[in-house]
Amino acid sequence: MSKITMQDLVSLCKNRGFIYADSEIYGGLSNSWDYGPLGVELKNNIKKAWWRRFIQQEPNNVGLDSAIIMNPRVWEASGHLSGFSDPLMDCRNCKSRHRADKLIEEWIVKQQDNGSTEEYPSAEAMSDEESQAFIREHNITCPNCGKCDFTPIRKFNLMFKTFIGVTEDAKGTVYLRPETCAGIFTNFKNVLRSTRGKLPLGIGQIGKAFRNEITPGNFIFRTREFEQMELEFFCNPSEGMDWFKKYRTACMEFAKYLGLSDKNLRFRDHSPEELVFYSAGTTDIEYKYPFGWSELWGIAYRTDYDLSRHSEFSGEDMTYTDPFTQEQYIPHVVEPSVGVDRMLLAILCDAYRVEKIGDGDERVVMGFKKSLAPIKCAVLPLSKKLEDIASNVYGELSKNWRVEYDTTGSIGKRYRRQDEIGTPYCITIDFDTENDKSVTIRDRDTMQQVRVKIDDLDAWLHEHIYD
Ligand code: GLY
Repeated sequence: MSKITMQDLVSLCKNRGFIYADSEIYGGLSNSWDYGPLGVELKNNIKKAWWRRFIQQEPNNVGLDSAIIMNPRVWEASGHLSGFSDPLMDCRNCKSRHRADKLIEEWIVKQQDNGSTEEYPSAEAMSDEESQAFIREHNITCPNCGKCDFTPIRKFNLMFKTFIGVTEDAKGTVYLRPETCAGIFTNFKNVLRSTRGKLPLGIGQIGKAFRNEITPGNFIFRTREFEQMELEFFCNPSEGMDWFKKYRTACMEFAKYLGLSDKNLRFRDHSPEELVFYSAGTTDIEYKYPFGWSELWGIAYRTDYDLSRHSEFSGEDMTYTDPFTQEQYIPHVVEPSVGVDRMLLAILCDAYRVEKIGDGDERVVMGFKKSLAPIKCAVLPLSKKLEDIASNVYGELSKNWRVEYDTTGSIGKRYRRQDEIGTPYCITIDFDTENDKSVTIRDRDTMQQVRVKIDDLDAWLHEHIYD
């Protein structure tokens, strides 16, 4: 087993076709990434697994696909227009720009790494004045030039602004959504009316969101354009805490089900100072990325804040009347929200291993959970003379599976190539295949081989790939 560095990961992703730098032929665009042939398969498999678990398998949950560009009043109600901003400071010496909260967080981590046991306040919970004072008091310096000479904090709104129509005036100003959940809140009554019409009800969606981050980075961990999988679970206020706990557990279980190791996952409950005023509880599931522990999934109990705000700003009453008890209330919301790209990054990091395979030789294996693997099997004819039968097998399998067909190089080299992209099964077509109508299947992890009839291949793969 070996750990992957971010540098190794970026290069493996580029060389094998998981992720490329965006618009690379023009010199790229910082922090924009494109998913290649394997990356898009892996991403789709993650999204499908999330949808199956949180929409399909939950009797109270349904899906949605709402627009990216919404009426700007939505962002007044959600608080994004007035409050969705980063605390920015410029270094007067080298002119580089920094987030005050990140400077403080990084400094605290460094103290702890150096053995300090002092309890520091949470950077997120500090006011701008407190952050500035903390930076001065502890002589926190610019990571670029080492000086401690910053401008006062200025707020920088993270929403991307654009214009509808031909004139770029204030009347036509709209925003790229900074989170997908807003479309769920604005459609809450539509969904309630057009489906079962009773609570509890979860509405989930997967889609792009955009934030003009000042300090993006760590490959696909924090990017300006990203994809979210969000569920808003609406319930009776008296049941909110139970649903919060249920989803907290369900999300952790799902992260493990996707193949992430126990040792790389932990809960981090937000402290009372860190909680936003309307939240009755927020937990992050953190993952141990190569650059350290950081957020993977946020599960927030948002009480009635969102629906109350949208009631107030839209004039649409969001009160729910229980059809059995006639009890009336604004539903409470539990929100598990996870980034597809972050989940994909964690899955790539966790899957990577280098194994010794005798005689000083080694192989790189992406040990993805089989159902997530971008390519499920590779069809490998041992000789050019076997290509007719091999292409028939490929043709049949590709009706149900993402299959690769590879005729080049020794069989050992072809196995290694598939190991490196995480293909669970290699199917070799040999000179006996014609007679016994069977193929040999080699398992990525155990490297064991079994002989299976061609007619049974599809069922065999179903049995071995899905749990
Ligand atoms: N809706 C929560 C988030 O985007 O982080």
